[in-house]
Amino acid sequence: MNSAVNQNEYVIWRDRDPHARAWRTLQSEDARNIASYFDIEDPTSSEKCLGCHTTEVGPGGHEAAFDIRNGISCEACHGAASEWLGVHSAGLYFYAKNISAGMFPTADPESRAEMCVACHVGTPESYITHEMMAAGHRAPSFQMNFHTWFKPDSVDTYTDYAHFDIDDDYLQRKPVPFGLKALLVGEIVQWRQFLTIIESEYSEMHGIFPELAFFDCYSCHFQAYDAGGPVVAGPGVRAMSALPLLAHHNYFVIDLSAEVLVDVPLARRIGEAREKMRQAVFRSPEAVEQAAGEVILLLTSLLRDLEGYRFSREDELRLLAELARQTEAGGLVDYMPAKQALYATASIVDGLWRRDAISQEHYDAASNALKKGLQDDDDLDARNSVVLQRAITQSVQALEIDAEARF
Ligand code: HEC
Ligand code: HEC
Ligand code: HEC
Ligand code: HEC
Repeated sequence: MNSAVNQNEYVIWRDRDPHARAWRTLQSEDARNIASYFDIEDPTSSEKCLGCHTTEVGPGGHEAAFDIRNGISCEACHGAASEWLGVHSAGLYFYAKNISAGMFPTADPESRAEMCVACHVGTPESYITHEMMAAGHRAPSFQMNFHTWFKPDSVDTYTDYAHFDIDDDYLQRKPVPFGLKALLVGEIVQWRQFLTIIESEYSEMHGIFPELAFFDCYSCHFQAYDAGGPVVAGPGVRAMSALPLLAHHNYFVIDLSAEVLVDVPLARRIGEAREKMRQAVFRSPEAVEQAAGEVILLLTSLLRDLEGYRFSREDELRLLAELARQTEAGGLVDYMPAKQALYATASIVDGLWRRDAISQEHYDAASNALKKGLQDDDDLDARNSVVLQRAITQSVQALEIDAEARF
């Protein structure tokens, strides 16, 4: 046996990977309830669900064993197998060779992110609409680097499910799949994908409103509260006096990293363009689409900028320290951005640990704090934002970053 890979990928995927059950999920009571809202009799065969809950394969065709019940199987992420399966299982596992044989470059953070977000954010043709959320579908909650390793877990809040090991041999063959750079690439690609949907669909009116999924949930789903406890206003949906805020779940870490580590002038321009897009909501749908296009171009420049960067351990610690500082100073109040920032923090901490750049004790303490933050995970309860913020600052404190790493 001279194969560099473990060859237990199938068993891990079958037993632990949520994608293996993606089609079976469509048989569930929950799925039927969602579907009935749209008069869909059987979600297991509906186009409205299958695009994201099964494997769709390009021109190379399916491997012989293809079965829709396998949900999202190897080919959905690795590409059509007919071309590369031979090279792969012969044990001649050369990454570059597989890629040129048609295997999708999952190890490359940008390509990987583009592949994941096609389902986890959606496309202009297919995304989770507010109507689907109101019918019971979860709102997307995703961070490419974090979710490459971790899935939600009821006991421990999140747990590792990866079917690959990153060892020295892996790192010789492939790009580094973790760390701050991969994280940022994932965040940028994810936001760009969301903006691409806005750019193309915002002016499609639903009654008097654009698609509600484009907005920050708490603009409308509002529970007033103060330090004395919750004061719930009405049934949880407040009357709309002004147009709601556009969703901006993952601007925080991108802004922060661009400003602290990459390109200050570009970070400012992105900030200005985002503000312009927010203002455009009060002008016209066309103005929003145009402003979204401008942010997309700037994000693409940032992505190209990043190509030349390598972040050191000190850079990553500096960013974590600054992230905690700004969180403590109240720069991260909303629930969705706070959850995204928690995923990002967990990802950086995980990447440091994988490179032996922090000790096991520091890693355990930091991840325990982060896991507590997700214990009351409820997307529509904005109060949990405080819990997330506390988890972020406590985990960074647990790392005991020495003074030089701070500003
Ligand atoms: C073909 C669409 C598709 C692609 C591509 C895809 N996913 Fe998923 N993913 C899903 C669906 C659908 C589910 C829900 C499965 C279920 O629970 O039935 C899911 C679930 C998950 C979960 C568990 C989330 C939860 O809250 O339970 C994680 C983690 C995840 N995906 C990570 C990834 C990553 C990382 C990538 C890219 C490497 C990726 N996915 C690519 C469709 C996709
Ligand atoms: C744009 C892609 C997309 C479409 C279209 C889609 N889903 Fe999903 N679905 C997902 C993703 C991604 C998840 C994982 C949720 C998360 O982020 O945690 C998921 C999760 C679910 C879950 C929860 C699974 C669990 O384990 O809790 C159900 C049920 C579900 N989808 C049903 C449906 C039904 C029914 C349809 C069709 C009406 C549908 N979905 C269409 C992407 C999609
Ligand atoms: C949700 C997307 C997804 C699915 C489904 C998936 N993989 Fe992967 N796979 C990845 C990612 C991401 C990596 C890590 C990046 C890389 O090494 O390419 C990976 C890595 C691998 C590796 C490389 C390990 C190494 O040491 O180089 C093998 C082999 C592999 N997967 C096989 C499979 C098989 C077999 C299946 C189906 C049973 C499968 N994968 C299903 C996303 C996926
Ligand atoms: C512009 C205001 C607005 C925004 C923004 C908005 N919603 Fe709603 N939402 C409503 C209204 C009004 C209803 C009740 C009517 C309906 O079902 O569409 C509702 C209903 C719901 C329901 C059904 C259960 C309930 O509480 O009534 C869910 C779940 C939901 N929204 C989730 C979300 C999520 C998640 C987001 C953020 C991605 C979001 N909404 C953004 C206005 C909004």
